[in-house]
Amino acid sequence: MDHSSDFLVIGSGIAGLSTALKLASLGTVHVVTKKEAAESNTNYAQGGIAAAVDPDDSLESHAADTLKAGAGLCREDVVRRVVADGPARVRELGEVGVRFSEKEGRLDLGLEGGHFRRRVLHAGDFTGREIEQALIRACRQSPRIRIFEDHMAADLILADDPAKTPIARNRCWGAYVLETKTGEVHSFRAKATVLASGGAGRVYLYTSNPDVATGCGMAMAYRAGAALANLEFVQFHPTCLYNPGVRDEQGRRFLLSEAMRGEGGILLRKDGTRLMEDLHPLEDLAPRDIVARAIDAELKRSGDECVFLDMSAKPREFLEKRFPNIFTHCLWMGIDPSKQPVPVVPAAHFFCGGVETDSDGATRLPGLYAVGECAHTGLHGANRLASNSLLEGLVFAERAFGAIEKERTILEAKVPAADPWKPIRAAPGQEAVFIRQDWDEIRRLVWNFVGIVRTDRRLNSALERIRIIRREVMEVYRGTPMSRDLVELRNVALLAELIISSAISRRESRGLHYNLDHPEPVENERKDTFLSRYGPYG
Ligand code: SIN
Repeated sequence: MDHSSDFLVIGSGIAGLSTALKLASLGTVHVVTKKEAAESNTNYAQGGIAAAVDPDDSLESHAADTLKAGAGLCREDVVRRVVADGPARVRELGEVGVRFSEKEGRLDLGLEGGHFRRRVLHAGDFTGREIEQALIRACRQSPRIRIFEDHMAADLILADDPAKTPIARNRCWGAYVLETKTGEVHSFRAKATVLASGGAGRVYLYTSNPDVATGCGMAMAYRAGAALANLEFVQFHPTCLYNPGVRDEQGRRFLLSEAMRGEGGILLRKDGTRLMEDLHPLEDLAPRDIVARAIDAELKRSGDECVFLDMSAKPREFLEKRFPNIFTHCLWMGIDPSKQPVPVVPAAHFFCGGVETDSDGATRLPGLYAVGECAHTGLHGANRLASNSLLEGLVFAERAFGAIEKERTILEAKVPAADPWKPIRAAPGQEAVFIRQDWDEIRRLVWNFVGIVRTDRRLNSALERIRIIRREVMEVYRGTPMSRDLVELRNVALLAELIISSAISRRESRGLHYNLDHPEPVENERKDTFLSRYGPYG
């Protein structure tokens, strides 16, 4: 089937839905989303949105904390822009019905790692769900927005621009989209396409992300010729619930928000001694890369399976009210956080890199924008400051909208017919069992060899192995009927190779990338890592 609208948004988290709402003032919008609309990283965000809204806070201070966490790789102009736009964007969320927690008539601001003051707006520990539901409601009320659930983009539609503007020979005109329930592939054509497809936590064996986080947007953009940047900077959340008794097929780990440490939680070794006490001036609220590495080192040193997050100094009533989601989940697992320390381990959480964009969310491929976690805007540098990502999604939704609104070549474009989707050639004899095997192998390989602490030997070995696995994946891809699993596997395999290549190319340690063979930052290496299928550029 052929669908056509003015704009196509791929993904339904905070960035995608906010962009859709804004674009609806310019024309019709189709939103495609892999599962039900609410299933996104946004929906599971516990911490909240960082914004300098308190009279005692300042834009300068928020920018300074962001730049410090970013370890020399943030784009300072982008940081200042995002921080400055934050308070207005957060107010807009209020206008669509998001209610943030208050205490004594004022916003109850949370504290998280790397922030020198309280500035995180939250709705208990259900912040993402509160935002997601309000945005879905608003989108469903708009007559110009149509949300297609169980529709996943498989590849971008590319064609020459008939207007032949000097910049636009090869241009994006929408996407080929797999309807996962029927296996049919439809073309969704549009004047502008916005990737808002989120992160890629599932490239790793253990992740805090839901199973939709497979980096499909990044992989599609790469295949279409856009550049990817800084894929080596993968943030591991230090405190995910360690629950070996519960087998989660997707390797998903339940998050224990950093806001718990903001409210006095402390990390303990198995013997009850404090882990972070002498390791950083901010102790348990040090930036995430430092806390995650400290836990990793402790587990390797001691051979223990986990460390512990102790909240027992806090009254039960406080924990129940401030962290209702986490508290209930822990009780369900048989752990009462008001009485006993909770076992925790790090897990892959957030991609600081992604599809390279300018300060308006435009990629190098005309007609294609990227917003939210799938994008690399320059905000996060080598390490994202906690709760800056929902903010980035909101601010870049507005910036992409503003850029599209001003761009007459987009608004007046005549969308060409799409070439028919090329059905996958059947190569007889392929067995679906390969799909499961390749998924498992890739995720374990990346977890073991491209994790919190890296070495040249592990990275080089990972590259050799992933190349073999990718060859096999491409054979399976050609021979097996289209399914969500297969499309995701193809993307995860590509991303794994790109992450490994990016990590190999950085000959230093900086922020989230820590390599024992190059343990210090190197000034000459203080630059972004770009990857494009058309060769190196920067
Ligand atoms: C958390 O609540 O700890 C996660 C917040 C974030 O990743 O920004």
